[in-house]
Amino acid sequence: MSAREQWSSRTAFVLAAVGATVGIGNIWRFPYLVGEYGGAAFILVYLGCLAVFGLPLMIAEVAIGRRSRLNPVHGFRYLATETSGSPAWLLAGLMGIVATLCILPLYSVVAGWTMAYLVRTASGILVGVTGDGARSIFNALISDPEKLFGWHTLFIVSLTLVAARGVRQGLERAVRVLVPGLFLILLSLLAYSWGGDALQRALDFMLAADFEAVTMAGMLAAMSQAFFTLSLGMGALMIYGSYLPGDASIIRSTASVVLIDTLMAIMAVLAVFPIVFSSGLSVAEGPGLVFQTLPVAFGRMGGGMILGSAFFLLLLFAAWSSGLSLMEPAVAWLVESGVLGRGWAAVVVGLIVWLLGIGVVMSFSAWSFEFTFADEVRTGGLFDVLDILSASILLPLGGLAVALFAGRTLSRKLMAEEIGGGEGLGFWVWYGLIKYVVPVGVVVILLRAVGGI
Ligand code: TRP
Repeated sequence: MSAREQWSSRTAFVLAAVGATVGIGNIWRFPYLVGEYGGAAFILVYLGCLAVFGLPLMIAEVAIGRRSRLNPVHGFRYLATETSGSPAWLLAGLMGIVATLCILPLYSVVAGWTMAYLVRTASGILVGVTGDGARSIFNALISDPEKLFGWHTLFIVSLTLVAARGVRQGLERAVRVLVPGLFLILLSLLAYSWGGDALQRALDFMLAADFEAVTMAGMLAAMSQAFFTLSLGMGALMIYGSYLPGDASIIRSTASVVLIDTLMAIMAVLAVFPIVFSSGLSVAEGPGLVFQTLPVAFGRMGGGMILGSAFFLLLLFAAWSSGLSLMEPAVAWLVESGVLGRGWAAVVVGLIVWLLGIGVVMSFSAWSFEFTFADEVRTGGLFDVLDILSASILLPLGGLAVALFAGRTLSRKLMAEEIGGGEGLGFWVWYGLIKYVVPVGVVVILLRAVGGI
């Protein structure tokens, strides 16, 4: 077997990991949460959660990946048996792969909506659209399986082609274009709103620290968002860490990723709010914000066609670079099991996700069904099932597994060696957090997600 590939540099890792972490969560969830839970006060709590839970867990995940230099399934098993832990730890890796396979079809279908909207904004159909109009256009799209099927197929094929080419020729080359592209588009959206009084209003809105709005629910939301936005708990960062060159500093690399992800989330708030405010609209959550509110805003403003296209391109890039990291753990697992070469492994994973995606495509039409989870009625069929299973259950469980493995199963000495810098004060802070604080935090996120608190 040929030597295992690595990123060409630390920067390549940072770009790839930023690509993985900056996703639709930064663009449609974060701005909404900031608005809902008290502006700057929420941001402060969120930054605290990043420092106390997010960064330590990311360090652990990347360190486990690099130490094993394997995919999550083989990696957990190898490290566990090496340190006389139970080989059953491989289940933690397997769970991560199941999670990626659940979340990828969702990403694909949402990326499909995005491509459809990119075409619509660019062609000018949305100019002057009203709120009701935007709503019915969106509903017509999500209940049109034929259109969605085409976009979904295109997205999966493009991910498969990149994954088939391997780490340097595939992933690294893609993120070298996608991530700077993301950043530039965000900057131009910001530049557009700069100077207008809508930006001032967005800033006021964001910086108005309303500490009363940071309720218990707000703090839990900050914690879950810190965890979700960093793409933790599914082996995506573990596999990216397994390609990190041995001499690169894990602390510096992960700290850069967290910093850039946060910066991009804040830039998204400052880009999205002025657009919404300048059209006299208010901020909504999730798909509603992106596919119903924003099209109305773009339709009303001069240059809305260009701005709107830039925005949907931004969302597409974000989904694409995250999609690549979701595909990689399963592909690497097949390759390192020795059953398939990289090309075929990519095709098999692509095919599985494509098939699952068909169920998601039909979730809002022929195959929709209703069920209740954590006291909430969900109507989105398989879309909602996969969403709950991955984001609410498998992700926190995966995070818990990583924290327990790094803090308790593997020896302190081994972790110190891998993270580097010896057992200084910084290391002890990390160790205390990963051993005692992070597990509690992740269990709280899990309980919240299943409606336990
Ligand atoms: N971080 C992504 C976002 O902000 C979502 C996400 C969660 C993700 N886990 C992931 C993306 C794993 C890629 C891989 O939208």
